[in-house]
Order: sequence, then C-alpha cells, then structure tokens
Amino acid sequence: MNIPESYQSKLKTEEEALQTIKSNDFIITGLGAAEPIPLLTKLHHIKDYGIKGCDLTNCLPMGNYEFMTKRDYKGVVRTTGWFYSQGMRKAHKENIVSFAPQHLHSAFTKRLYARDGRRLVLLVACTPMDKHGYVSLSLSTTYERDAIDVGAFVIAVVNPNLPRTFGDTTVHISEVDVIVESSYDVPSLPEIPLNEKDKKIGQYIAELIEDEATIQLGIGGIPNAVAESLRSKKNLGIHTEMFTDGMVDLIKAGAVTNNKKTLYPGKTIATFALGSKKLYDFLDDNPSVLMKHGKWTNNPYIIGQNHKMTSINTTLEVDLFGQCASESIGPMQFSGTGGQSDTAIGAQLCAEGKSFIALYSTAEVKDGEGKRKTISKIVPMLKEGAAVSLSRNDVDYVVTEFGAVRLKGQSVTERVRRLISISHPDFRDQLKFEAEKHCIW
Ligand code: COA
Repeated sequence: MNIPESYQSKLKTEEEALQTIKSNDFIITGLGAAEPIPLLTKLHHIKDYGIKGCDLTNCLPMGNYEFMTKRDYKGVVRTTGWFYSQGMRKAHKENIVSFAPQHLHSAFTKRLYARDGRRLVLLVACTPMDKHGYVSLSLSTTYERDAIDVGAFVIAVVNPNLPRTFGDTTVHISEVDVIVESSYDVPSLPEIPLNEKDKKIGQYIAELIEDEATIQLGIGGIPNAVAESLRSKKNLGIHTEMFTDGMVDLIKAGAVTNNKKTLYPGKTIATFALGSKKLYDFLDDNPSVLMKHGKWTNNPYIIGQNHKMTSINTTLEVDLFGQCASESIGPMQFSGTGGQSDTAIGAQLCAEGKSFIALYSTAEVKDGEGKRKTISKIVPMLKEGAAVSLSRNDVDYVVTEFGAVRLKGQSVTERVRRLISISHPDFRDQLKFEAEKHCIW
C-alpha cells in the first residue's frame, strides 16, 4: 500500500474511532493544546458501546469534558490527572477524578508502571501528513512520542490549524492506527497585560540574570510577565519545558539568540507549547525550535548541562523555611508539580546556574463567609495538608514585588530574616511574632 492509500485506509469518523477503544484499555491523552478535542468531547459515548473499566490519564486538559466531570462515567473510564486545570479541579471536589503526584521528567515511566500490562491507547492531535508520510505532534511531545515508541494503539485527530513543529514530534503515518480529520480552533491562552507588581518582580529578576543565560520560564502569570523585563539582555538561550508567548517576544526582540548554548546551540528547546495564536504562528514550520521528549528536556542532569541555566517559576505559598507549595491550596489540588523541581534542581546543578521562585507577596482570597480578604503568600507554616512542590533543600532565590533574596545555603534564621524582608509590610510584624512563637530560627 502506498502512503496515501495507507492514510485513507485508517480514516474513520469520530464515532468509528471511539469504537476502536476496548474495555480495560489504559488511555493517555495529549497534553494541553495537543489534546484531541473532538474525540474527548464525545469520549463518554463509549458507555453506549458497552465499554467499561478503562483508565484515562491526562495532563493540563483544556476542556471540561463530560467523561471526566460527570459521575455517570466512573465505571466506564476512571480519570487521573497529574496537572489539573479548571475542569479537573471541579471534578476532584466531587470525587470524580484523582490526582497522580509525579515529576514531569518521570511522568511516562510512572504511567507505564501503573498500566499492569493493559493495552495502551494514545488519543492525540497532529498536523496533516506531509508528502513523505509524516505528521507532527505539534504542541506537545512531553510523553506522546514515548507512548508511540512503546507500541501504543494511536488514534490521531488531524487538525490543519495546528502548527507543524520539529524534533521528537515527528511521527510516520505507519505508526498511527486510526485517523480522524477535524478542523477545530486550537486552545489558546489570552495575553495578559503586565501590572506594576509584575514589572517590579521582573526588574529584580532581570538584575540577577546575566547575558548568555539559558532560561526556562514556568507556567503561570508571573514567569510569562518576567520575559518582558529580559528584553535588553544579550544572547540568551532557551531550554524550557513550556514554550510561551513571552519567549516569542524575546526571540523577536533579539534578546534570545541561542548562540551561547551548550546543548543544541542555535535552537530553542521545549517539550510543550501553550499560549496565544501569536505563539502558534511562530512555531509553525519553524526549524529553530525543537520539541524534545519531556523525559530528556526535564531531566535535571540534562538541564544542568546548559550554559548559565536559569529557571523562573512561581508558587502559591512559601513558608519561612523556604518550602514552596506550588500545586495545592492546603490539601486541595490546584495544578501539579509539573517541572517545577526538575527545572529548579536542574538549574542548580549548573555551576553558574540560578533558580527563581517569583510570587506576589499577597493573594486575594475569599474567607469562610465568601468575603474577599488579603493574605500573605509568605507564611510561617504552609496550610495544613499543602503539598510541597519544591523542598527547602532545593529552593534558591525567592522574589516578590518587595525584592529578591537568596535562600540557598542560608540557615533558617537567615531565611526567616530574608523572607520577611520581601513580605508585604502589613504582615511583617505578624510573621516575626509567629517565627518566635514556633521557634523557627
Ligand atoms: N492561598 C490561597 N489561595 C491562593 C494563594 C494562597 N497563598 N495564592 C494564590 N491563591 C489563589 C489565587 O487567588 C487564585 O485564585 P482564583 O483562581 O480564584 O483567582 C489561584 O490561587 C491561582 O493563583 P495565581 O497566582 O493566579 O496562579 P497562576 O495561574 O499564576 O499559577 C501556580 C500559579 C503556582 C498555580 C502555577 O505556576 C503552578 O501550577 N506551578 C506549579 C508547576 C510549575 O511551576 N511548573 C514549572 C514548569 S512549567
């Protein structure tokens, strides 16, 4: 069979494709904007086909799909996520889905371990096939290519609106079992204008980042905003888990050249991309960006080989020891560890590396009666039940709109003093009082 014939022979409707799923299958879905939205929107229909006992694992899903948010499908497909977004958070509160703690660099091996020999099915999105018979996994190769490499049954939705990317995203049509064609809008994140706090945090970090640094920017509002403050830097490089809009601006401004990188000089390295249409247009057919396996991109020992590796992430809460709760509010799961400790530890394995945790000093939250109140994000102790995403052994710089302090190598006494100095002035006395009361010194 020639390539076009082979493609045609695999072509199915969405419903036909879903009917190739079998009871007890272990399903993995593409990450974030690489998820096959039309299939996931209808995935709950497998109940009508008598399918049951499937497990599905996802990461940062973009949609609030029926199969994962409605209790009716629990016996049909049990959903586990390792980076929650809004729909998963809601479903978690209703005990419909569960969370799988793990680092990004080891995400795929952990999943295989949990599979118990069951058939692995990958539901993923890709670009149309090129003349050589290849599609591109486009916006993520965090674990998707790994699933194909271990022989997963692959159901791919071909979407002409996805950007064609290079690296480990390349898949030959012979490796795909079922093809569905669908032209849908690629999920995007809005570009959020910078506020004064973002600008101050950006300035503090920019003062500490050297020309020629290789940077990683994490997920969340602040890391993306920090990019703006790096525009005057020279010969920056990018080795990141997530490729963002702010990075596109840095490349276009000439601040990123990738010329001084030790690994893949001249290339931007990422494992997934999520942002606006501007980002996707930049990525399309762009050979200067290589999308690489997450197990490689996020391996701390690989990250640490980069020139002046610098990681910038954010957190929800940091205690006076320097422990960062970045993925849960108390015991309630909010997102996931993702690559926070991979990248922070990796940056510190680099001799000239630095790792930043940047956060606003306060957050606006609702109290028990639903009234808005301001709380300090720097606290004596983390909320009861909070997950520590970055341990106090691995924290380096912490930055708020009141300054940047280095905790690495410092005693707890000194950490307390430094963290209070960058907390909001309204909370400093209380933090000092609590530190004394609980002998945090
Ligand atoms: N206590 C209670 N609630 C808090 C809080 C605190 N200390 N700090 C923040 N919140 C609330 C905010 O008010 C906001 O609530 P809302 O959704 O009702 O507005 C919510 O938590 C999210 O806060 P925000 O600061 O807007 O989050 P973000 O979108 O910038 O994401 C993280 C921040 C930390 C959740 C995100 O970066 C993350 O998941 N990090 C872990 C993974 C990671 O860093 N990976 C790195 C490689 S990509």
